[in-house]
Amino acid sequence: MCGIVGYTGYRQCTPILLEGLKSLEYRGYDSSGIAVLENDSLHVEKAEGRLAVLADRLQEGVLLPGKTGIGHTRWATHGKPSDENAHPHVSENGKIAVVHNGIIENYRKLKEELIGKGYHFVSDTDTEIFAHLLDYYFRGNILEAIYKMMRKVNGAYALGILCDEMPGTVIAVKKDSPLVVGLGKDENFIASDVPAILKHTRTVFYPEDGEIVILRPDSVEVYGKDGERIEKEVEAVAWDASAAEKGGYPHFMMKEMMEQPRAMADTILPRLAGSVAQPEISGLSEAFLRNVDKIYIVACGSAYHVGVAAKYILEEMTGKNVEPDLASEFRYRVPILTEHSLVIIISQSGETADSIAAMREAKRRGAHVLSIVNVLGSTIAKESDDVLYTWAGPEIAVATTKAYSAQLCAVYVLALYIAEILGTINLEEAERFAAALRALPEKAEELLSEHSKIQYAASRLSSSHNIFFIGRNLEFAAAMEGSLKLKEISYIHSEAYAAGELKHGTISLIEEGTPVVALMTSGALTDKMRSNIREVKARGAFVLALADVDVEIGEEADVVLRIPKTHHLLRTSLAVLPLQLLAYYVALVRGCDIDKPRNLAKSVTVE
Ligand code: AGP
Repeated sequence: MCGIVGYTGYRQCTPILLEGLKSLEYRGYDSSGIAVLENDSLHVEKAEGRLAVLADRLQEGVLLPGKTGIGHTRWATHGKPSDENAHPHVSENGKIAVVHNGIIENYRKLKEELIGKGYHFVSDTDTEIFAHLLDYYFRGNILEAIYKMMRKVNGAYALGILCDEMPGTVIAVKKDSPLVVGLGKDENFIASDVPAILKHTRTVFYPEDGEIVILRPDSVEVYGKDGERIEKEVEAVAWDASAAEKGGYPHFMMKEMMEQPRAMADTILPRLAGSVAQPEISGLSEAFLRNVDKIYIVACGSAYHVGVAAKYILEEMTGKNVEPDLASEFRYRVPILTEHSLVIIISQSGETADSIAAMREAKRRGAHVLSIVNVLGSTIAKESDDVLYTWAGPEIAVATTKAYSAQLCAVYVLALYIAEILGTINLEEAERFAAALRALPEKAEELLSEHSKIQYAASRLSSSHNIFFIGRNLEFAAAMEGSLKLKEISYIHSEAYAAGELKHGTISLIEEGTPVVALMTSGALTDKMRSNIREVKARGAFVLALADVDVEIGEEADVVLRIPKTHHLLRTSLAVLPLQLLAYYVALVRGCDIDKPRNLAKSVTVE
């Protein structure tokens, strides 16, 4: 996820663009850049690092004069953070500059085609493709060039474009990435999000997918998919600046929970060609995979819970022996590793001290290290032998949600990739799994839209002192994550238990009114789970059950939350969503600081 801004008007644009980018830094902050159109030529300045580096270089906007410009703050998806990979990207003839928020899914194919046409790439980004493609199609009419570009590119994009043949003009294009247009007096704006323009105007409209916007200081034209002019309804922004930074949500955590479908889609779709998984990892050759003696999955906190789920997924799909372990334990024990061991390190930040140490210990012992990381250029990403990125964008809330879901999706892609190489999955199973994976973001969207029952359940749980989460198989991993979410942000003690373990001790704690969150599975384990629910119900528990839409639940449960049907290996990815919302609403009722819980940090870079 990145942030784009654009301005055209009567004022010097660079200070306005810098200020706009500052309010969008929560969308990405590993590099930034600005392009200005002045005297019919483009002038570009860009820099690796936080926005302050660029601002210093531009003397807070004194340099780079001009009244028409675009800017970008980056969350790297393709190509590490660097000056070369920072946006804007410019066509070889220097006529067109582009800033981009989103992902090009068919970038490999387009890049090869453009290189075949004689274009030279100076960056590792997918975005540079837009600059060359527009140059290739531009014959004096930018609209025509953009329509041709849109027919070639698959993916998500919000673009800001400058063309030296169009002085005083900013062009914007929107498809599957957010874009807002701000209307001022003799000046107009574009941005990824309202905070960037709120200081200058509250009069906005939101282009639809496929629409192109041509902004000049005294006019804004909108064109539809078929070249027709469109009149847009403007609206007044009611948010204050702080709420605006959260996209209108009250907390970053809620915003990031709602971004999960996008994060899942961006992590899955660019890596699925039909039913074939194509993650961009080169170190897992068939020979290596065939000889893998064991797969360790090493992480901390929520990332470890992904490892617990990954055990069930990878063992079932690949037939390999999988062991999840806490990084803080792994690094101090004597793991039996050989050059045939695959160690997967999962980390949102890529900077967690215990996970870094575990990774280095694994490498020292000769294992092959693959990491699943959300931050390009982070320590774990840089030191791993292979990296499978989660394209969740920056996660601000301490309690992880979208990165957790994206990590699970990366595991699904990896499992399919390994299973197809080893032949441990047949074509029909692969097609069924890939189809379910493609449909997952939409089912997540559906599930995340239902809050009322969860809010009721939260009101029933918010004064509890101990809450139990029980589940079996993959739903046990979801139970662990749900329990951690609740503890982290509401400060209520809870425990996640493999439901079959209740009778081995824990059930002694169940008394009248003890809340139990029961994650029903379907298939063979449903009846077992139903018995576990009856056991706790018989002792007075208040039961909140999560169950597939087709699972019969009678009076065993006090509240039932329904989960859309999906592949049995993917259900855990859906089951965790209501649990995230449950933790959020319980914390809200208790007046806790949801985005910055006490005693916690977003990245635990110390031991
Ligand atoms: C999750 O909500 C917590 N913030 C925490 O458990 C986190 O998952 C853990 O610290 C690992 O962080 P990482 O993914 O950045 O390595």
